Amino acid sequence: MTQHDRLLIIDFGSQVTQLIARRLRELNVYCEIHPFQNVTDAFLADFKPKAVIFSGGPSSVFADGAPMPPKTVFDLGVPILGICYGQQVMMHCLGGKVERGHGTAEFGRAYVTPNDNKLPLLKDWFEEAREQVWMSHGDHVSAIAPGFEVYGTSPNAPFAITADPVRNFYAVQFHPEVHHTPNGKKVYENFVRLAGFTGDWTMGAYRNDAIAKIREQVGDKKVICGLSGGVDSSVAAVLIHEAIGDQLTCVFVDHGLLRMNEAEEVVSMFRDNYNIPLIHADESDLFLGALEGMSDPEQKRKTIGKLFIDVFQKYANEIEGADFLAQGTLYPDVIESVSFSGGPSVTIKSHHNVGGLPEKMGLKLVEPLRELFKDEVRALGRELGLPASFIGRHPFPGPGLAIRCPGEITREKLEILRKADAVYIDQIRRHGLYDDIWQAFIAILPVRTVGVMGDGRTYDYACALRAVTSVDGMTADYYPFSHEFLGETATRIINEVQGINRVTYDITSKPPGTIEWE
Ligand code: XMP
Repeated sequence: MTQHDRLLIIDFGSQVTQLIARRLRELNVYCEIHPFQNVTDAFLADFKPKAVIFSGGPSSVFADGAPMPPKTVFDLGVPILGICYGQQVMMHCLGGKVERGHGTAEFGRAYVTPNDNKLPLLKDWFEEAREQVWMSHGDHVSAIAPGFEVYGTSPNAPFAITADPVRNFYAVQFHPEVHHTPNGKKVYENFVRLAGFTGDWTMGAYRNDAIAKIREQVGDKKVICGLSGGVDSSVAAVLIHEAIGDQLTCVFVDHGLLRMNEAEEVVSMFRDNYNIPLIHADESDLFLGALEGMSDPEQKRKTIGKLFIDVFQKYANEIEGADFLAQGTLYPDVIESVSFSGGPSVTIKSHHNVGGLPEKMGLKLVEPLRELFKDEVRALGRELGLPASFIGRHPFPGPGLAIRCPGEITREKLEILRKADAVYIDQIRRHGLYDDIWQAFIAILPVRTVGVMGDGRTYDYACALRAVTSVDGMTADYYPFSHEFLGETATRIINEVQGINRVTYDITSKPPGTIEWE
């Protein structure tokens, strides 16, 4: 259990709750997000938060069974900050009034004007007479609770910023955690300072906490860890190895959907550099066989996820006493995959690491990165001494090339895709762009197109280059390559890779697209 002061985020189901956690982590404050259903009186007594934040959420306080915190949260004597729905909840619980939208809904950019700059929550926040914020609410507060005062208004939200500084309760209608509230981080900074956090929670501290947690969870049992070759599972494996040494065995499943030379690189890194017991399971026939003739993206994902578990169980059964399965599941995987009443968002894709896990698989899960964002995993990897070149690698999804091969997957297509992808990445590296890009890869398209090479007609596959910038994989922009770069890359791919005669560049952002093609 962490020794640090803890901040509790009560999640009412907002799509951006995890961003609150990010902003707080950036301020070196330890926080945990818990869905409102789990936050009981007993939970609060055990958790002992030094401050509490109520997230936003899609509900209305008028709805039957509307998400609410336990009333005792207001008696803890700690600062509370309510965001959007969190503000409405606060007012509703403390004697204010909330009204339904009816023409006052606000979605998007708005400007808040302060009434009073002395509120500690707003210290140094307003650089201008008005501050840009992001609103996203249907209902609104129509009367504030006794003890509260108004500290800022926007054209459609007369109670944009409210506070009861005596009890240290703060409530804002906007979302300070999103990028569209450019100085929003300042609000969190002021909040944690007034709550007395010193900002002493670092990656080093996380590492020690995580190691202690793993030891406590695992005891003297054995763990098998699925290595995918990506940064996440690698960092998880090294962390777990540090915690429990050779009680860990890594299983690297080669599902036949890896990039060029990937299998060799992973095996040599773990066996040679880390001395971590590693089983290299070449199961490509099994996976590719099962995927034959399959085109539906969800069916592909589910098939791969299920086989993965089967393969793991097979190897787990061979390792005597293995009770745990370790995975490099990250926070965004959890958020995008879980869907429960009033809790985090709808299912977008069934993520390989989470969605395919049957309940009765007989192995308990160790997921030491479950609370981390990608860049935090990289920071943890550096902390653990993993080579910089490895940590800097672009993310690679569990289902591998399967989700970069829309339509039917064949060995021929995979081979072409691997070669093209290698040329593309080489181009990016040669131009010194690799580290500016969050993720770059090629998708081979399920169409053949006509071309002409030399004197002959060609009828080969088209492919799409993808390259995006992102902070956490939740949103992304396409990378603005120069036309020269794109032209040179297309020429190289067509010349060097037999089977491709047309190259396109995917300029879709996320949303509305996703990063992967499936
Ligand atoms: P999307 O395509 O959902 O991807 O925008 C967001 C990020 O997640 C990666 N991704 C996955 N990672 N298992 C993983 O470990 C998966 O099933 C999976 N699907 C997508 C994707 O590569 C991107 O970085």
